[in-house]
Amino acid sequence: MANIIDGKAVSAQVKEDIRQEVEQLKAKGIEIGLAVVIVGDDPASQVYVKNKEKACETVGFNSYKYALPAETTEEELLALVDKLNKDDKVDGILVQLPLPKHLDDKIIINNIRPDKDVDAFHPVNVGKIMIGDYSFLPCTPAGVMELIKSTGTDVAGKECVVIGRSNIVGKPQAMLLLHQNGTVTITHSKTKNLKEVCARADILVAAVGRAKMVKADYIKEGAVVIDVGMNRDENGKLCGDVDFEDCKEKAGYITPVPGGVGPMTIAMLMKNTLTAGKEHHGVN
Ligand code: GUN
Repeated sequence: MANIIDGKAVSAQVKEDIRQEVEQLKAKGIEIGLAVVIVGDDPASQVYVKNKEKACETVGFNSYKYALPAETTEEELLALVDKLNKDDKVDGILVQLPLPKHLDDKIIINNIRPDKDVDAFHPVNVGKIMIGDYSFLPCTPAGVMELIKSTGTDVAGKECVVIGRSNIVGKPQAMLLLHQNGTVTITHSKTKNLKEVCARADILVAAVGRAKMVKADYIKEGAVVIDVGMNRDENGKLCGDVDFEDCKEKAGYITPVPGGVGPMTIAMLMKNTLTAGKEHHGVN
């Protein structure tokens, strides 16, 4: 039986470290604020936004929520982003995605000040991640790195396989593994012999969005298996990209869904917001 990686516990520790630092900053009169913008009434987005507000409360940040109607125009949303860019109380800005279809994610993200872009989605921040000179970590991939670290695994020299090549997870994940000297392969829907490629991995990160796609024959005995997927199975139950029941005997370490990567993403968002706040206040 694999060791199950407890994302809730690891994320609680990350948030506790942040809370203590925030307390010290408050003693010096420094407060940190995160603005979260949600457009429309997508139920999943509403849950994510509520969890982000809760996390702000836990660590001691001020959170400013802007819930805008689905009919909000691009002009109106850009006007809000501009206002938040200029607001000294706001250290981080997060526009919850997906936006309604008539709004272009790219245009909105490109207008967030890069030093307030705590998602690390702005092209300037994406570029910095590429060259390894970054202050903001892409939240989900950074959370995955924390989980790998919690297993005591040294990434250097390991075979790392990432399933999925999204801009939000797959590509930045590969960069973070590479920065830690992993030997990294990115796989995707056109990859030949996917099963065999995955079975070479000492560290396998699944971020493909297909329920229970990764079976025991995709993994090497003793591998670290990190599941970024968040899907519904045939019974409507939350599940990952990895078939947990099938893989749990063979993996060395494995994340559950829920309770694995999910809580880490928000913890890393808090970390980025702290970094932004410290930078804005000239604190190291
Ligand atoms: N929607 C789903 N995940 C995310 C995320 O990490 N950031 C933003 N802004 N929107 C999301």
